[in-house]
Amino acid sequence: MIETRSPGIASVLGNWRQETGPLAQTLAAAVRDAVIDGRIPVGTRLPSERALAAALRVSRGTVVTTLAELRDTGWVRTNHGSGSNVRLPPEITERTAPWSVDHGDGLDFTRAVPAAPHAAYLEASRRAVERSASLLMDSAEPDAGLPQLRELLADRYTREGLPTRPDQILVTSGARAAFTLLAEHLHDRARPVLVESPTYHGALAVLRRRRARLAASPVTSDGWDPARFAHTVKTVRPGLAYLTPDFHNPTGALMPADQRDHVAALASRNDMTVIADETLRDLDLRTPPEPVPHLAGRAVVAIGSMGKLVWGGLRVGWLRTDAARIRELLHNPLQARLSPPPLEQLIACELLADLQDLRRDRRDRLRAQRDHLAALLEGAGEWSFTLPPGGLCLWLRLHGTTATALATRAAGQGLKLSPGPTFSADRTLTHYLRLPYTATHETLTRAVAVLTGQETTRR
Ligand SMILES: Cc1ncc(COP(=O)(O)O)c(C=O)c1O
Repeated sequence: MIETRSPGIASVLGNWRQETGPLAQTLAAAVRDAVIDGRIPVGTRLPSERALAAALRVSRGTVVTTLAELRDTGWVRTNHGSGSNVRLPPEITERTAPWSVDHGDGLDFTRAVPAAPHAAYLEASRRAVERSASLLMDSAEPDAGLPQLRELLADRYTREGLPTRPDQILVTSGARAAFTLLAEHLHDRARPVLVESPTYHGALAVLRRRRARLAASPVTSDGWDPARFAHTVKTVRPGLAYLTPDFHNPTGALMPADQRDHVAALASRNDMTVIADETLRDLDLRTPPEPVPHLAGRAVVAIGSMGKLVWGGLRVGWLRTDAARIRELLHNPLQARLSPPPLEQLIACELLADLQDLRRDRRDRLRAQRDHLAALLEGAGEWSFTLPPGGLCLWLRLHGTTATALATRAAGQGLKLSPGPTFSADRTLTHYLRLPYTATHETLTRAVAVLTGQETTRR
């Protein structure tokens, strides 16, 4: 346990007395701020009441009131006989949205990102650090990834019906890194790249940066249009396609098994490589969740990530392809720069070894938040939507105003939104809006109040 020495706490808290208001509340706020920005590490044991009073030059009564306030709000745990320890309250550690989404400057609904699962993540990090001595014996030159991690990922594919060996896996610093590396390796500038419309804007950014010619194939909340997809493949002859068959971002659509087979066969016949982004695969919100087949075949490369099930800050993703292509990719100079540090990979191993509880918890919370947002929106405005079977967002069709006009009005009231053109290769989809349900119930309620013109988010 870390312990603050009593003289230390006064300098750590700085000029807290300059704030106005009752002394105990001001002191409690100063402690909270110090914990949030890391000046007092979580787990720190605070000095005794008497020592605190002396160090901060306040009465013992003020310290008692301050500690009671911090205890009541979950920032301090007092164990009788062993003093008070600083902790983070459940409203921070048990959230599904990062704290930054609704604290600070209004509400940020442009990001569909889950918060880190605090307890599981800290525990996995601790175990990884304890096991990290073996890493130090290695040269740690960036390579295809820790053997243990490649094995765990290969096992996962195999258990899910797609036999995979560890030498078919390349670990990257996230799915975006995997996509960037593959685009660099596979993109033939003479041929267009097929993307879904709408699609994940991060992938569009990578392709635009490469000045790729884009051909769009539509996806709605009801899914893909196989006939139009086949027509585009045959007429435009793209060399590469980027698809998100598992709870597509932003519509949440799930590609049926027969369409997956159809896409894989079409790609093989037309000399097109499909990059299947499986980043959202674990976020199946159906009750109960059902097995999802992989989009797989000779012409398909899969990419995945720990970012949505665990946390975006754990920069661990991967790609799955044949072993020969993995060897080629290892010769690409970009690969070393897109490889995550070994300790991060070890944390990923610890988490992957036991994902059951984490997956269940994520799904339960996201399902409840999706349903809460849907209930708030139902009949409350000029829009329509289909409840998605998974993923992180509702894809709203607006019937009156454009999404850009709505986003501009909402921004004036402190709510940041992503209108449809953000997800479109040709800046169309002006009447669509992506609404993530990653925020807490309370925050979702506040956001919908802005959308329906009832309220501003500023408190
Ligand atoms: C479909 C899709 N792919 C990839 C990513 C990014 O993944 P990572 O954080 O692992 O780079 C996201 C994140 O929003 C996503 O929605």
